[in-house]
Amino acid sequence: MTEFSRLEQAMSAAASAVEATLNSVLPRPQGLGARVQEAMRYATFAGGKRLRPFLVLSCANLLAVDKACALRVAAAIEAMHTYSLVHDDLPCMDDDDLRRGRPTTHKAFDEATAVLAGDALLTVAFEILSHPETHPSAEIRCELVRRLAEAAGSNGMVGGQMMDIEAETMTLDEATIAELQRMKTGALFEFCCDAGAILGEAGAEHRARLRDYARQFGLAFQISDDLLDVISTPETAGKAVGKDQSQGKATLVSAYGVDAAQKRLEQLARGAAGLLEPYGPAAADLRALPVFLLNRKA
Ligand code: IPE
Ligand code: IPE
Ligand code: MG
Ligand code: MG
Ligand code: MG
Repeated sequence: MTEFSRLEQAMSAAASAVEATLNSVLPRPQGLGARVQEAMRYATFAGGKRLRPFLVLSCANLLAVDKACALRVAAAIEAMHTYSLVHDDLPCMDDDDLRRGRPTTHKAFDEATAVLAGDALLTVAFEILSHPETHPSAEIRCELVRRLAEAAGSNGMVGGQMMDIEAETMTLDEATIAELQRMKTGALFEFCCDAGAILGEAGAEHRARLRDYARQFGLAFQISDDLLDVISTPETAGKAVGKDQSQGKATLVSAYGVDAAQKRLEQLARGAAGLLEPYGPAAADLRALPVFLLNRKA
């Protein structure tokens, strides 16, 4: 089996496992909250790549963490990520009609329901993390909650989304674009690797190495997302393309063009993979993952 098909198999197994966990932790539509709960499930069970859960599970596995605990953390980050997509697509943000190959949540329901479904996916993430089933130690659960709050908040994803909108009317240098992307996208990836280390009660050396990996991976990931916007199709990507340029988004592709962005992506992806050499075969999937970004179509 090639390294790539092994990775694909591992990603698909992780996706099925996290979807089963999400199905059990997300509320079942019933009673007075049924409509928003339907919208939460609509946004969640739509065939995303489940990359963030894969990172949590792989880092946790590397540090011999109990799989059931890691799966709950993986479900929490996927709920958080899905909320960010539902809000990112709203008319007041990127105004998109297609997500994960089907109508965006505000198109399938309505704007108010999409805002509320996003809010509820955000809060359920913390409900999952703080539940005793996630880890017997209250201290560890508390650290997970704090780290996710930091990663998702105004110094992380939300802050990056703010800059992303403000940058539509500005010209940013490469370092500022990288910082915007580290906040908007990288922060949640950093949480994923850090969560594995927190669950595994890993020492400073593991934590620093996994954080550096996540940082480079996150930057590489956002460049690959920005490239898809230029070179993919809606049918393949499952979302609109060609919009970053028309909306004036600050990306490395817009700043330097496709070829230079592709080169930077390769550099970051290989760099991220290289950082995990010390783990040997145990980190084979984590090393293959950044390389997967180089040729992804969706
Ligand atoms: C898309 O994320 C949004 C960004 C952060 C750029 P993904 O490409 O991981 O989306 P899904 O989860 O697979 O749909
Ligand atoms: C979205 O970035 C990042 C977050 C949702 C935090 P994009 O706006 O580039 O994501 P897509 O391209 O719509 O998936
Ligand atoms: Mg956006
Ligand atoms: Mg968008
Ligand atoms: Mg994009």
